[in-house]
Amino acid sequence: MGIKYKRTLDKTTPYKPGKPIEEVKRELGIKEVIKLASNENPIKPSEKVINAVMKAAENINRYPDGGCFYLREALSKELSVPGENIIFGNGSDEIIIFAIRTFVSPGDEVIISDPTFLIYRIASEIENAVIKVVPSKDLEYDLEAMLDKVTPRTKMIFIANPENPTGSYISDVKLRDFIEKLSDEIIIFLDEAYYEFAKGGDYPETLDLIEREDRNVIISRTFSKAYGLAGIRIGYALARKDIAEVLNKIREPFNINSIAQAAAIAALKDNEYLEKSVELVKQEKKKIYNELNSLGVRLFPSRTNFILMDTGRDSVKIAGDLLKQGIIVREMSGWGFKGYIRVNIGLQEENDKFIEMFRRMIKN
Ligand SMILES: Cc1ncc(COP(=O)(O)O)c(C=O)c1O
Repeated sequence: MGIKYKRTLDKTTPYKPGKPIEEVKRELGIKEVIKLASNENPIKPSEKVINAVMKAAENINRYPDGGCFYLREALSKELSVPGENIIFGNGSDEIIIFAIRTFVSPGDEVIISDPTFLIYRIASEIENAVIKVVPSKDLEYDLEAMLDKVTPRTKMIFIANPENPTGSYISDVKLRDFIEKLSDEIIIFLDEAYYEFAKGGDYPETLDLIEREDRNVIISRTFSKAYGLAGIRIGYALARKDIAEVLNKIREPFNINSIAQAAAIAALKDNEYLEKSVELVKQEKKKIYNELNSLGVRLFPSRTNFILMDTGRDSVKIAGDLLKQGIIVREMSGWGFKGYIRVNIGLQEENDKFIEMFRRMIKN
């Protein structure tokens, strides 16, 4: 009975994104909705990006450049990394998925932390991998425990640095020490989706790792966060040439549409937008910590554009009540964190409204 599909899909639950703004407007019949649930950039794209998008739209009767020539050139210059070491994806999500498809065969082991970005597990399950889950320690990576899980069947290890949903990060010294202890049999996937917010201090600069012959490192980054292009879907990975070549075999030939390519080129040139985005997060994050810490809510340190908080109360109710006020946050009990919510940094006035509503709910 019914359609026959890959049995491995039985254990897979589809990724559940944050509620879209339009959906909440429709459902609640309200006009003003603030979304703080998907770690997006709240700042509208700059005119430079919009103009590039409009111009690219004039030629959408043609297929895009499958090799992303001009974008590759621009990014290569920006990062000082040869173009042959860059792989583009329809969001960095897609790169995670095709990296797993490329390297993981049924029965191979994939090591992930818990909690972590959900796509690692979903994509590994689809390939029928054996997933070894390592609980975090005080919501930080337990790298020792991850090393203990390594076996001759370990194929990939996922490290989101910084991590989603915790916001925590691994320092340069700790990350390099961990990588030294692994072997050249393993693919080390470093997901740096929040790189632009995290960089500085002891946060690792990792690009040298892709030059190593004795380690297999893939670094992914995205235009969805600090560059503000989540809706257009574009991310990239950096890896040694032989790794990039094999990933390109799996990549769908026209995975980056021409409008996304043009938008990313314009975004790379738009330093003003990037700086504004990073600064907004820095300032507003400080404010949210200050305002909410005094309420007795536990806020976890974050190197990203979001904050995980233990409300110490019924988070389903809190998230539901906030939603009724037109504020969408991410309720975390589905990730095993009862009482927790994750809130990303919005515009100044959006954060103020969240703080005000949240304060009322906590005090009640
Ligand atoms: C850790 C992490 N990696 C990857 C992504 C995916 O980003 P995108 O597919 O938009 O590049 C996200 C998005 O929230 C994330 O939190």
